[in-house]
Amino acid sequence: MQGTARNFFTLAIIYSLCGMALGLHMSISQNHDQMPTHAHTMVAGWLMSAVFAFFYHLFPAIGHKKLATVHFWLTAISGIGLLVGLYVLLAGNPAIEPLVAVSSMAFYAGMLLFAFIALPALWRS
Ligand code: HEM
Ligand code: HEM
Repeated sequence: MQGTARNFFTLAIIYSLCGMALGLHMSISQNHDQMPTHAHTMVAGWLMSAVFAFFYHLFPAIGHKKLATVHFWLTAISGIGLLVGLYVLLAGNPAIEPLVAVSSMAFYAGMLLFAFIALPALWRS
């Protein structure tokens, strides 16, 4: 695994370690207030990043293009902004909401970019 595929899989593993640590903390403390943060870290973080990693691994020529690098950084920065912002929000800080909102929209923009990158490649192959 190389390039964007390796970057996404590294990010996926970091998400899984953080998300599972949060899940354990929730279980041990019996305080599930951060459930949405845990759920999104695991599925929108670990699982989605792993799917992106395997896509770029299957299509290595696309993974080495500039647009794939843009997709990685847009998804990584917005995803971290979304999850850290959500954690801070659910810890009782409503002032962080604009960061969560902007990050969510940027995360969606990342998915749109992925559709633009992936669909032509899928239908060409
Ligand atoms: C160390 C392992 C894990 C622990 C201790 C843990 C713990 C928890 C806890 C305590 C909840 C809250 C349940 C509730 O309040 O109803 C939860 C929810 C959730 N977890 Fe985990 N979890 C772990 C791993 C995972 C993994 C590997 C995934 C997915 C890949 C995952 C996905 C989810 C999702 C999607 C929810 C929300 C479920 C719902 O909407 O009701 N978790 N987890
Ligand atoms: C633009 C990014 C996203 C936003 C703004 C968003 C927003 C939300 C909201 C508002 C909820 C309801 C939370 C609650 O009732 O407490 C939710 C739940 C959920 N979302 Fe997302 N979501 C996003 C992306 C995703 C993605 C990409 C996935 C999966 C790959 C996902 C999986 C889930 C799951 C499993 C739940 C149920 C667990 C929970 O209640 O936290 N979400 N999401």
